[in-house]
Amino acid sequence: MSAEILKATLEGIEKAARCLRAGGLVAFPTETVYGLGADATSPTAVARLYEAKGRPRFNPLIAHVESLDAALRLVNLSMEQRRLADAFWPGPLTLVAPRRAAPGRDPSAPAVCDLARAGLDTLAVRVPASPVAHALLAAAGIPVAAPSANVSGRPSPTEAAHVAVDLADRVDIILDDGPCRHGLESTIVGLDAHGRPALLRPGAITRRDLESVLGEPIPDLATGGTPTDPASPTAPGQLASHYAPDVALRLDAEAVEPGEGLLAFGPVPAPMLKAAAAVVNLSPAGDLREAAAGLFAALRALDSAGPSRFAVMPIPSEGLGEAIRDRLARAAAPRPPR
Ligand code: TXA
Ligand code: MG
Repeated sequence: MSAEILKATLEGIEKAARCLRAGGLVAFPTETVYGLGADATSPTAVARLYEAKGRPRFNPLIAHVESLDAALRLVNLSMEQRRLADAFWPGPLTLVAPRRAAPGRDPSAPAVCDLARAGLDTLAVRVPASPVAHALLAAAGIPVAAPSANVSGRPSPTEAAHVAVDLADRVDIILDDGPCRHGLESTIVGLDAHGRPALLRPGAITRRDLESVLGEPIPDLATGGTPTDPASPTAPGQLASHYAPDVALRLDAEAVEPGEGLLAFGPVPAPMLKAAAAVVNLSPAGDLREAAAGLFAALRALDSAGPSRFAVMPIPSEGLGEAIRDRLARAAAPRPPR
């Protein structure tokens, strides 16, 4: 199989929606990263998706829907989560909440299959803002399970070409709508044991954005399990390495060691520039938004830049910096055997 790459025109979107409804795999753009979509109600389609990604099955998927109403048919949001949904949907926010129990539901309403939830009683839902994603979900009329459209463990794709490199021979359609606006995955907010909102993954919506809506600090959800299944991952962090390029990364470097390349942020001090075997700059101006949008493309570029190790200049931890530092830490983590 070789994927059909379609421009995200009306016809392209309608063809992709038909493909999803027929159980196919469609890579599509969102405002965060490209997602690899499958009909979330079909265990067969979802099994194909896990297989294409080479993803461990215990890592549950986000159900993407076209509207808040569609999301409310799938999950029971807490009051605070509802405020976040009202503030940030459509947009780069994912909410993890108890799924709505089947009894009493409209039996014709599609339910997200167990496999997509990895057997959890909670479900992650997101209403994307990208017009193409929205049009696709509206045309498909089903919840679409979509992890980032990369092979598991590789950096997330922010352009259709990245998807093609990783998955061209494993998916049916790649919808091309150019580079993604944010370039970082959605922020994930779940609930702690007391039902209060907790941050599962920093992302395109910053902690401060969340806190300004909630009116109080949002804690990180302690990693290591969910109330329903202590052994299952609550967020991508449980996987030792994620978002990984092939080169090694050395974070918060103050100097460049012999043979190293430099992954820079902001103006590069002259001694570092002189010592580096190659330089990739996330944002010469030191702009976190620009660095976020280009992060995964930069990580992919490092693999063909020459040096086998890169020193990474310090990135400030405020605002989007928190999510950028999180992704870099995962990219630098020791690799599990593939
Ligand atoms: O921006 C995004 O969120 C992108 C685009 C395509 O929407 N999607 C994405 O999906 O990043 P993925 O699968 O790469 O990351 C979603 C993470 C999973 O790694 C999983 O740990 C977490 O969401 N997750 C999903 N369902 C969950 C649940 N029921 N409880 C806790 N965590 C969950
Ligand atoms: Mg991912």
